[in-house]
Amino acid sequence: MAAEASAPALRLQGVGRRFGALQALHDTSMEVAAGERRAILGPNGAGKTTLFNVVAGDFPPTSGSVELFGTDVTNLPPYVRTRLGVCRTYQTSQLFMGLTVAQSLFLAIRGVQGRRFWPTRPKADDPSRVRAAEIAAIVGLADALAAPVGALSHGQQRQLEVGMALAGNPRLLMLDEPAAGLSRAERINLTSLIQGLPRDITVVIVEHDMDVALAVADRVTVMAEGTPLVEGNPDEIQDNRQVQDIYLGHAVGARNG
Ligand SMILES: Nc1ncnc2c1ncn2[C@@H]1O[C@H](COP(=O)(O)OP(=O)(O)OP(=O)(O)O)[C@@H](O)[C@H]1O
Ligand SMILES: [Mg+2]
Repeated sequence: MAAEASAPALRLQGVGRRFGALQALHDTSMEVAAGERRAILGPNGAGKTTLFNVVAGDFPPTSGSVELFGTDVTNLPPYVRTRLGVCRTYQTSQLFMGLTVAQSLFLAIRGVQGRRFWPTRPKADDPSRVRAAEIAAIVGLADALAAPVGALSHGQQRQLEVGMALAGNPRLLMLDEPAAGLSRAERINLTSLIQGLPRDITVVIVEHDMDVALAVADRVTVMAEGTPLVEGNPDEIQDNRQVQDIYLGHAVGARNG
């Protein structure tokens, strides 16, 4: 499992994933450099979440290979990928509404450390508790530590999800539509949160909101029908006629209009 020091954070070669008769992902090759910010755009059903699932190891690809930081993980279980530094958020919320922000972060941190799960009244100087407060500050929830998750705004819940992913000390952070359902003000907040993440964290973000995606990305991959169609920097993507046709034409209007 020796990994190259200069290896990309993520390398996909000819990756495909079939569900019965449905080829959700096919012929997908892609490299994301360490430290890069990559946005993945594409209409509903383009295979974006399937790509995340294949990278995180929720299920293996049915063809091709997945490398993380130079290690071939194609057939390795999710916990190995977590250990290599892959953390993600999900398109649908995975939060526990009855916990507080502090408890949620504490639990995410402890989960990572592989200790016992339930957050029983940690001491004030418990390192995990200190770390939870640090992460809350990074994601703009320093004043909400004691708030129950269910009492947070939708935008704050999305911020907390990013925080819980950060609790795993990611080298590769994958965010699946973090701005979905957010107000304009909340989207602006989330955009600066992502822009402000430490540059050594590689970020791959699936996002329908072009403003968010283009503001945070160094490079953009546009997917359609289960495979990457175009890759370029944000300016090239905005000017690309094919992208305007397949993506701007329907997806933005349908989802965010
Ligand atoms: N576990 C699964 N079992 C069966 N079919 C699946 C599964 N996951 C995804 N699919 C199908 O694969 C295709 C790609 O889905 P995927 O969720 O990757 O799209 P997406 O680009 O994330 O779309 P969206 O923008 O709506 O989130 C869809 O047709 C979807 O119904
Ligand atoms: Mg999706």
